[in-house]
Amino acid sequence: MENLLNLKSCSIEEIMSLLQEAEKCRQGNYMDSLKGKIVANLFFEPSTRTQYSFNTAEEKLGCKVINFNASSSSMQKGESFYDTVKTFSSFQVDAIVIRSSENEYYKQLLGKIKTPILNAGDGTKDHPTQSLLDLLTIYQEFHHFEGLKIAVVGDIKHSRVAHSNIEIMERLGMDVYCSGPQEFKDEEYRYIEFEKAVEEMDIIMLLRVQHERHEQAMKISKEEYHQQYGLTMERVNKMKKNAIIMHPAPFNRNVEIADDVVECEKSRIFKQIENGVFVRMAALRRSMRG
Ligand code: NCD
Repeated sequence: MENLLNLKSCSIEEIMSLLQEAEKCRQGNYMDSLKGKIVANLFFEPSTRTQYSFNTAEEKLGCKVINFNASSSSMQKGESFYDTVKTFSSFQVDAIVIRSSENEYYKQLLGKIKTPILNAGDGTKDHPTQSLLDLLTIYQEFHHFEGLKIAVVGDIKHSRVAHSNIEIMERLGMDVYCSGPQEFKDEEYRYIEFEKAVEEMDIIMLLRVQHERHEQAMKISKEEYHQQYGLTMERVNKMKKNAIIMHPAPFNRNVEIADDVVECEKSRIFKQIENGVFVRMAALRRSMRG
C-alpha cells in the first residue's frame, strides 16, 4: 500500500513516472485495470473538480465508488474525523481519498489506518494531485521544466495549491516567483511586480482568494483587486508569444481573471481540469498496486 500525502515525500523520478503513467491514461490505457476495488471519497470540505474527477478516474479504472456525505453522516451526532476514517478502513475498502480543512490531518491516521490514503487537499498545506495535473499541463506544453519562468499570483498565504506547487516546481528547476497583494504575502517566497510578471513569465498561474481561510475580511476590494492583479485581455496581450495561463479553479470571473480571458487562446484552465482525471487515475493505480 502506498499513501499519496504530499509531493515533498516523492522523488523526482517518482513524480516523472506518475506523469508518464497519467499520459498513458490520457491515451486510453488502463481502463478497468482496478476492477473490483472499492474506493471511498471522504470530502470534509466542498469540492467540485477534485471530488468528481477522482470519482471519474475511479469509474474509468473500474472501481466501485462510495461518496461519503458528511452532512448526512454520524458526524452530525458528534462522531470525530478519526473515527469516521477508521470506520471506512474497517469496511476494508481498498483506498480512501480525503480532503480536510485541517493541515496534515493525515498525521493522526498514520500507523493506525492500513488503507492507502490519497490526500485531496489539506488546509493550506498540500494538494498533491492538483500539483501533478498542473505539472502534466506544463509538460504537455513545453516538454520540459528546467528554466521555465512561472509566477503564482494572488492569495499565496492561504493557498495549498501555491504551497504544493512552489516546492515541487523549484525542485524541478523552474524559476518560481509570486505576486499579489501585500496582505496575502508569504515572506518565504520570491516576489515580482505583477506587470513585470505578465511580460516576462512563461506561465501565469492565478489563484482564487481563499476567503474561507481568512481570519479577517480582505482589505482590498474586488474592484481594486481586478484593477491591480486581475488578468485582463489588455494584460494578456502583453504576455510572451508562447506563454500560458493557468488557474486551479474555481475562478472568480472579473476578480482574478477577466471573463473573456477564461477561455482565451492562452488559457489552459480546462486542459488542467481534463488532466485532473488522468493524474488521479495514475495516483490511484500507484496506491492500489500489488
Ligand atoms: C483548489 C483547492 O481546493 O485547493 N481547487 C481545486 O482543488 N481545484 C483551489 C481553490 O479552491 O481555490
